[in-house]
Amino acid sequence: MANIEKNIIDGLTGLRDWVDDRFPLMQNWNEHLAKYYAPKNFNFWYYFGSFALLVFAIQILTGIWLTMNYKPSAADAFASVEYIMRDVSWGWFIRYMHSTGASAFFIVIYLHMFRALLYGSYKKPRELLWLSGMGLYLVLMGEAFFGYLLPWGQMSYWGAQVIISLFGALPIIGDDLSLWIRGDFVVSDVTLNRFFSLHVIAFPLLIFGLIGAHILALHEVGSNNPDGVEIKKNKNAEGIPVDGIPFHPYYTVKDIFGATVFLIFFFGVVFFMPEMNGYFLEHANFVPADPLKTPEHIAPVWYFTPFYAILRAVPDQLGGVIAMGLATNIFLLLPWLDRSPVKSTRYRGWNFRCALTLFVISFLVLGWLGMQPVTPLFTWMARFFSLVYFAFFLLMPFYTAIDNDKSVPDRVKD
Ligand code: HEM
Repeated sequence: MANIEKNIIDGLTGLRDWVDDRFPLMQNWNEHLAKYYAPKNFNFWYYFGSFALLVFAIQILTGIWLTMNYKPSAADAFASVEYIMRDVSWGWFIRYMHSTGASAFFIVIYLHMFRALLYGSYKKPRELLWLSGMGLYLVLMGEAFFGYLLPWGQMSYWGAQVIISLFGALPIIGDDLSLWIRGDFVVSDVTLNRFFSLHVIAFPLLIFGLIGAHILALHEVGSNNPDGVEIKKNKNAEGIPVDGIPFHPYYTVKDIFGATVFLIFFFGVVFFMPEMNGYFLEHANFVPADPLKTPEHIAPVWYFTPFYAILRAVPDQLGGVIAMGLATNIFLLLPWLDRSPVKSTRYRGWNFRCALTLFVISFLVLGWLGMQPVTPLFTWMARFFSLVYFAFFLLMPFYTAIDNDKSVPDRVKD
């Protein structure tokens, strides 16, 4: 028995060495896993990067299977989705995983971004890591927008119609630009075809490439942590950070545990509430697209609603489009707006703590307002919270410069 075991191990080691002579297998394994030293004090908030990877894999896999039966044409799209739901074996399961995955992606990403705000992970030397993350966020929004047209329901159709028409508000190029995006004078079969192509090939490739850049940037500078202490500043005689532990096996095991819990919730939604009361799959989208009948109440899916509320808060259409564009892109400037020498909120003063709390409240309230019909009260509320939202960023250079930050310990505390 012992001999067989020995032969198997020798065989596998030989195979590994054979590959290693021709491909940097062990070098990469060590660099990114076994000898990648991550801070020992990662907490709950550090799960979401790996959850985002997991959800991306789910979306790619379920997307491949959906594409096998989906028909990207205005005549057949809606019926092909119904066919997937009713006739294709396990089709409903694949589709609900994909639709739940879209919302799960944004939940995970918003929490992932919030963690970066909480612990100052966007600050020097992680600016490029942050920018690659923002690239991912913006591309992900495009990916979700293109995907939403594909079922060709009423909300798919009219949502796309409203959003593409917004480009028409831009001076000089506006009309030509929206015509160019649609490929037609109204959202049509042509639009559906190009959105399909962008959704299944172009944008997933972009996301894939950006994830690669994101991880490379992360591993170049090393992870931040809840104390915001740079662990690379304290190394032992062998050059290993004293507050670091190898990513594998410690964090691979932690992440597998987290992924299991995450999947329990994920499948809970897939099996028991895939529509999430109209938040994940909107009711109006169970009606086929009708270019002659505008739905009474057009609202984007929940993950776009904070920006939609900002758009509607500005009385002028061009102003609204600019405000919405700024609201999504202003995160790009964070590394340069924040003047505090301290990263983690644990050691920051009350200025930043209060500002971050107000920002989160404004984001949530705007998200809720973006789902409501327009009333004078809601419009004024949207204006107020849009101001709070922008104030967080625009006043940041001032309130962070004069904050009562505490002294940061030399080593991580937990
Ligand atoms: C498909 C989307 C994304 C994937 C797959 C992804 C993946 C990851 C992974 C695996 C990590 C390391 C584990 C962790 O710290 O949680 C990480 C770290 C990080 N990500 Fe992302 N990410 C994505 C989007 C974003 C976005 C949208 C942002 C911000 C705009 C962002 C900013 C960061 C930052 C700042 C870190 C370092 C955090 C720290 O060390 O404290 N990421 N990401």
